[in-house]
Amino acid sequence: MLSTEILAKLNGQIEVEFYSSNLYLQMASWCEAHSYTGSAKFLLEHADEEMDHMRRIFTYTNDTGAQALVPGLEQPPYEYDSLLSVFETIYKHECYVTSTINELVTTTTEANDYSTLNFLQWYVAEQHEEEHLFMGIVERMKMVDGSKIGLLMIDKELAGSAVERTASQTK
Ligand code: FEO
Repeated sequence: MLSTEILAKLNGQIEVEFYSSNLYLQMASWCEAHSYTGSAKFLLEHADEEMDHMRRIFTYTNDTGAQALVPGLEQPPYEYDSLLSVFETIYKHECYVTSTINELVTTTTEANDYSTLNFLQWYVAEQHEEEHLFMGIVERMKMVDGSKIGLLMIDKELAGSAVERTASQTK
């Protein structure tokens, strides 16, 4: 059985993951509108991943007999200066998501809620992977220093990476 505090935090995390999905969906739209079709594809896939993150918490919460809540969401930003600023925003957002997961881990540890603590381990590993992924993309984009050809090459690479990530997740 979940404590009131942990239930509130799990519902808060559902909102964070839901918002992440909408944020990446909106960014995919910006990329499409600016002819970065590889990045758009990559971000559409990533928006789906975030919905999966949300659903895992939703299911876990309901499985404990508590009620998961569907949040009302704010509209994500839809204007960006450049492809680099899109990915810098994502990296910063993922660091924020890591901080919310860490806070949940701290709360469950202090409450001796070992079931939820065990459930959260997947998210701890996932956040490490996501921060690493987006930090790498930002670093590569900085290396090309605004070169259109360089950015288009990275954009093409991201389209391939979306396919690879989908394939590895369905194995
Ligand atoms: Fe579900 Fe990208 O954090």
